[in-house]
Amino acid sequence: MSKETLTITDNRTGQTYEIPVNNDTIQAIDLRQIKVSEGDFGMMSYDPAYSNTASCKSTITFIDGDKGILLYRGYPIEQLAKRSNYLEVAYLLLYGELPSKSKYDKWVHDITHHTFIHENIKKFMDGFRYDAHPMGMLLGTVGALSTFYPEAKEIFDTRLREIQLHRLIAKLPTIAAFSYRRTVGQPYVYPDNDLSYTGNFLNMMFKMTELKYKPDPVIEKAIDVLFMLHADHEQNCSTSAMRSVGSSLPDPFSATAAAIAALYGPLHGGANEAVLNMLQQIESKDKIPEYIKRAKEGEFRLMGFGHRVYKSYDPRAKIVKQIAHEVFEVTGKNPLLDIALELERIVLEDEYFVKRKLYPNVDFYSGLIYQSMGLPTSMFTVLFAIARTAGWLAQWKEMLQDEERKISRPRQIYVGPEKRDYIPIDERA
Ligand code: CMC
Repeated sequence: MSKETLTITDNRTGQTYEIPVNNDTIQAIDLRQIKVSEGDFGMMSYDPAYSNTASCKSTITFIDGDKGILLYRGYPIEQLAKRSNYLEVAYLLLYGELPSKSKYDKWVHDITHHTFIHENIKKFMDGFRYDAHPMGMLLGTVGALSTFYPEAKEIFDTRLREIQLHRLIAKLPTIAAFSYRRTVGQPYVYPDNDLSYTGNFLNMMFKMTELKYKPDPVIEKAIDVLFMLHADHEQNCSTSAMRSVGSSLPDPFSATAAAIAALYGPLHGGANEAVLNMLQQIESKDKIPEYIKRAKEGEFRLMGFGHRVYKSYDPRAKIVKQIAHEVFEVTGKNPLLDIALELERIVLEDEYFVKRKLYPNVDFYSGLIYQSMGLPTSMFTVLFAIARTAGWLAQWKEMLQDEERKISRPRQIYVGPEKRDYIPIDERA
């Protein structure tokens, strides 16, 4: 019978070590016994972008990047996108099982009745400059929520923790929509609790003088599906930020603000905005080959292509491409779609991209959909943040309940100068 261990021979000393293997993984701390001498600190593993380091055990999301599989709590994303809705998926991520009818109704009621924000938060948002990016406003305002709910720091009080989860999932669309209205100089629209989660979001974004806003069902459903697709993606950059910041045990508003900051960057959630800018820059199909050539020469990256985990077609991108056609039936075709389709066609046949397994990711088509719905590019990542809040909170909760939890504190390999004496300024060369 095979042994679940790894034998390592240190050729510097000739010594052999036997290290346990669990889940195909060794514990990095087991390497510390490997020493050259008694006073030696011991061996570490070096993994600057954590590309081969598991930072936690999790029961939430499973990804098989080679096969293009994504499961939330075991359920395939394709089935959820077709048959579930965002709030049900949020419940599934947070509590591990699909809710019964009564639990679902209570959950929807709880979220719906936390959608309003304190009037002072509106005033707080008024303090941002007229041209502030909505993502910056979201980041600042979510952080500020911790000052409105000081009891949120009681993170091990189950009841109080639940209330903060409800508040975050419920208030994110309100803050997001307010940040948009502020950008365009329009009055804030209060939540309409008769509408669905995404219907109400559209109401707060687009309602003008009508007495009751009626969302277009195709658009409402499309955003709901996009929210499900973005709800969690295991240990990505922003989720790792959530867990890492959360490991020092601040309130969830502060930790979520950190996750939003991580999402903001163009290599992560900012990519959908960057894709649109790229397609606009390309301008026409005939300019695609030249643009691809420049990307291959390393001048820039093709936004919306490649993924740290998926080395085949991102399963979310397939669903987004389908929704795009449904949305364009209502909104009219986005003129950039032809450029996007042609770009994808060429990339999928180009040896550079094939060799590196670079396929369209979730952000490649989502921006086109959002733009057709009348959303400005600056709001794209904000929508991603609304959706990902459920995943961040599920991962944060799991981290808090993990018996192996400790404050995040990576090691480093110091390569700076050795100890040296201070030189007074007039004696320096
Ligand atoms: N365009 C051109 N070349 C690329 C691209 C791209 N989009 N992505 C990776 N490469 C090349 C890269 O230059 C490298 O080539 P070489 O081996 O010759 O040096 C090789 O492919 C491997 O790249 P990497 O940087 O080691 O890959 P990574 O796993 O560190 O990066 C990524 C993953 C998503 C950051 C990267 O693919 C990228 O920058 N893509 C564009 C931004 C984007 O679309 N981000 C959204 C990701 S999905 C949603 C989300 O996470 O929020």
